[in-house]
Amino acid sequence: MSKVAVLGYGTIGSGVVEVLSMNAERIRKNAGQNVRLKYVLDVKDCTGTPAEKYIVHDIEEILKDDEVDIVVETMGGVRFAYPFVKQCLMAGKSVATSNKELVEKHGPELIRIAKEKGVDFLFEASCGGGIPVIRALVTAYTADEIEEISGILNGTTNYILTKMLNEGAAYEEVLAQAQEMGIAEQNPEADVEGFDPCRKIAILASVVYGKNVNFEDIYTEGITKISEKDIAYVKKLGASIKLIASFRHVGDRYYAMVSPFVVGPENPLYSVNDAYNAIFIHGNAVGDTMLYGSGAGMMQTASAVVADVVAIAAGRGETRLIDWSEDKLKVDGIESDRRSFLVRVSDDKVAEAKEIFCASEIVRVDGLEGEAGLVTGVMTEDEFEKRAVQTGIISRLRMR
Ligand code: HSE
Repeated sequence: MSKVAVLGYGTIGSGVVEVLSMNAERIRKNAGQNVRLKYVLDVKDCTGTPAEKYIVHDIEEILKDDEVDIVVETMGGVRFAYPFVKQCLMAGKSVATSNKELVEKHGPELIRIAKEKGVDFLFEASCGGGIPVIRALVTAYTADEIEEISGILNGTTNYILTKMLNEGAAYEEVLAQAQEMGIAEQNPEADVEGFDPCRKIAILASVVYGKNVNFEDIYTEGITKISEKDIAYVKKLGASIKLIASFRHVGDRYYAMVSPFVVGPENPLYSVNDAYNAIFIHGNAVGDTMLYGSGAGMMQTASAVVADVVAIAAGRGETRLIDWSEDKLKVDGIESDRRSFLVRVSDDKVAEAKEIFCASEIVRVDGLEGEAGLVTGVMTEDEFEKRAVQTGIISRLRMR
C-alpha cells in the first residue's frame, strides 16, 4: 500500500483529496496497489472538511513517517513549497506537484535530486490543467524534432477574452467570475499579465529541448491593455482573440513569446473557448497535432496530480524519462519575427498609415467614430515599431 501526504488544502489540494477517495478503486487497479491518504498539511485545522482527520501542521511529521512514500504539493508559491519538496525528496519520498512556479524555478534541481535518490518528481498538473501534455511530450513525441509548441495555456484569460468577445462583457466583471470559479491564481496578475502561461511554456520547452528555459527571457505581454474598442475590430473581422504562448525551434535558434493574437477561423486555436486550453505541437515528421481540454479548475487539475500519484505508485519510474538539465537554453528576441498587425488609427491618419503599413484592409466599426482599423502587410516587429512611431497609432494587436 502507498501512503500519501498532501501539502496544502486549497482548491487543488482539496480536489486531490476528493479524487483519491472518489476514484479509489480505479486508482488501486491502475497503481497495482491501494493508495491511501495519510496526512494533509495546512496551517488551518480544516474543521468540517474531508481533510479534518488527516490534518498536521508540521512538515516534520510527514518527513519522519517512513510509511509515507508519496507527497503531493499543492501549496503554490516557492517560499514553503521549495524547501518542503526538497526535504521530501532528500528523505526518499516521491513528489507530485501542480506548482508551476516551483517547477519553472527549481525543476532541474528537483529532477536531479529525485533521480539521485531513486524517487520521482512529477509535475503534469503544472501545465495545461487536466491535459496530459508533459506525459505526451516525454513518452509520445519522441521520434520527432519538435519545431513548435504554441498554445492557449491559461484558462482565466481565455475565459475573460471569450466573454468579452462573445458577450461584450466588461473585463473586471469576467475576472471576478474567473476568481469565483477557482481558475484564477490567488494573485490574478500572474494570469492577466501573462506570467502564468509564460512559466508554462518555459516548462514545456525545457522538457522538450532538455535545457533550462528561463521564463524571464521570454517576451511577455498580457491582456490588460486590450480594450472593448480593440475587441470590436476583431469581431468585425470575424476573428477571435487569444493569449498565445509560443516556442519555436528554427535551425539552431529558439524563439519564444507570450502575447494576445488575433486568430482567424482557419486557425485551430480559434474555437478554443472559455477556460479550455489547447497545445499545438508541430513535429518535423508528425506535422501538426493539438491537445485540447480543461486547462484549469479544481477537479481537472487534481485529476492530473493524481495521475502522477498513480504513475509513482505503479513504479513506472517516469522521472528518468524527463531530460531537463540545469544548462541554460538561449532564447532569441522577437525583433525579427514577421507578421501582420491590426492597428487602430485616428481618421486623419488613415491615408498615411495605409501607405506606411502597406495595409491590405481598412476596417470600420459602427459606433466608433473618428477612427479606423487597418490590417497591415507582413513585416518584422522591428519594422512595425519604427512605422508605428512615425505614424502614431491608437493601439495594435498581433495577428496570426
Ligand atoms: N490560473 C491558471 C489558469 C490555473 O487560469 O490557467 C491553471 O494553471
